[in-house]
Amino acid sequence: MPLVNMKTLLTAAEEGGYAVGAFNCNNMEIVQAIIQAATEEHAPVIVQASQGAIKYAGLSYITALTRVAAEEAQVPVALHLDHGTSFDQVMRCIRDGFTSVMIDGSKLPLAENIALTRRVLDVARAVGVTVEAELGKIGGTEDDITVTEREALMTDPEEARQFVAETGVDALAIAIGTAHGRYKGEPKLDFDRLRRVRELVQVPIVLHGSSGVPDEAIRTAIQLGVRKVNIDTNIREAFVKGVREALAANPDEIDPRKILGPAREEMTAIVREKIRVFGSSNKA
Ligand code: G3H
Ligand code: 13P
Ligand code: ZN
Repeated sequence: MPLVNMKTLLTAAEEGGYAVGAFNCNNMEIVQAIIQAATEEHAPVIVQASQGAIKYAGLSYITALTRVAAEEAQVPVALHLDHGTSFDQVMRCIRDGFTSVMIDGSKLPLAENIALTRRVLDVARAVGVTVEAELGKIGGTEDDITVTEREALMTDPEEARQFVAETGVDALAIAIGTAHGRYKGEPKLDFDRLRRVRELVQVPIVLHGSSGVPDEAIRTAIQLGVRKVNIDTNIREAFVKGVREALAANPDEIDPRKILGPAREEMTAIVREKIRVFGSSNKA
């Protein structure tokens, strides 16, 4: 079916009390793995591309690959820009056919983040595209900061209330202790903070940096209102595992299909596992 608006998927998730998986793509095999997994699980799904992915693959390739995959699929698929930081980039994605965009103004002062998000919303609303924003700084696992410093970057619930009231954004990414990349230890999520945000904010909450977060913590976050869960690193790991194993089994292999095929299967398996944890199986 044609690509769908992300808001439709998140509204259904809100009603059903589950979360929709948002999986990062960088090439054809990743897009195929995500759609195959969603198809096998009968699950709605979000394919997302970062600015880095767009730089690597090309905007029109990302859009075309995902559009074709969605059109052939029997499950609803949204195409989302992940961590867009530039107004112009967001506009290019909308023009190219993305059905959802993230405008990440989290590094800006609050008033500027609100102003940038509103500017994007003005355009996106007119063309039926969903908008996600970020408040608080999610950061990376590599960032060399202490627990106290990380806490200082977390989302302030009162600011979240003000942000949503003043922007009317469709979905809000918040910082509650997760980080992008591979965790060194076990991440500790601030569920009290999530609970307080949820009391003050009615829009779907987005959890970034979800690879490596224990399943139980993800389930709790979903119970507390998370409706979109972002996964990238786990897909990268599965891709590399598949490639490594294929080459270890046959070091002389030169057929890319025999190397990337197993990688695609590994990625399909991990995306299926995540979809089950998010509770979105059989929701398509
Ligand atoms: O949010 C980060 C995502 O994992 C995308 O990473 O910017 O390296 O594509 P990337
Ligand atoms: P991980 O790579 O930690 O799964 O984070 C993905 C993400 O948040 C993309 O926006
Ligand atoms: Zn992210």
